Amino acid sequence: MSAFASIADPTTRSVALFREAGRVITHPRCTNCHPPDDKPRQGMDQRVHVPTVSGGPDGHGTAGLPCSTCHQATNSPTTGETVASIPGNPKWALAPVKMAWIGKSLGQICEQIRSPSRNGGKNLAEIQKHMAEDVLVGWGWNPGPGLEPVPGTQKAFGELIQAWIATGAHCPKP
Ligand code: HEC
Ligand code: HEC
Repeated sequence: MSAFASIADPTTRSVALFREAGRVITHPRCTNCHPPDDKPRQGMDQRVHVPTVSGGPDGHGTAGLPCSTCHQATNSPTTGETVASIPGNPKWALAPVKMAWIGKSLGQICEQIRSPSRNGGKNLAEIQKHMAEDVLVGWGWNPGPGLEPVPGTQKAFGELIQAWIATGAHCPKP
């Protein structure tokens, strides 16, 4: 956080803090589950999920093909020629379309995250808690063999979001 202390103007500092947090937020490990069309993506190239699945009414998939058919409570390493795994987490589900991040600028994502009408009714303290403590968000740092984790630690990410809020939760220009 000390790198940001030298930015005297709080608004500029706040935007810089969010840009740093954006290295996590815009990473495919996060955005693959925040698509605009109810269809998850896979890998660093964000190809459409094979087989084609939809989040459905509650994000857990459709009746015929729930996510839990394949995604267990923990990551399951697969055997094969390359190191890989099927991601797993107790809360595995697709984010609703109103929380879509793919195809949006960091400024647009920022506006969305701080807006209770689009973030699931969360105030800023609840957003901070979600980023810092939610187990599904935490999967990003522990995605299993064959998948690149998001940068840093969830603790440091929580502190960045805290500092962003403390400086007024300002967003980059859309
Ligand atoms: C397996 C899919 C999945 C992954 C991976 C995932 N999310 Fe989400 N995310 C969801 C779902 C489902 C919701 C809505 C339910 C909820 O709020 O818990 C959500 C909601 C959110 C919200 C609150 C609403 C909003 O968009 O403002 C934030 C913030 C968030 N996620 C951050 C992250 C971050 C940061 C990462 C990566 C480190 C991440 N998510 C990775 C599925 C995912
Ligand atoms: C028929 C099995 C199956 C079903 C059903 C399924 N998945 Fe997957 N999913 C997989 C496999 C296998 C992988 C790993 C593929 C790989 O790494 O190449 C995967 C990978 C993913 C990834 C990529 C993670 C990353 O960052 O690369 C996301 C996101 C995902 N699934 C979300 C979902 C969601 C959400 C649902 C339910 C709506 C779902 N999946 C349903 C088999 C399935």
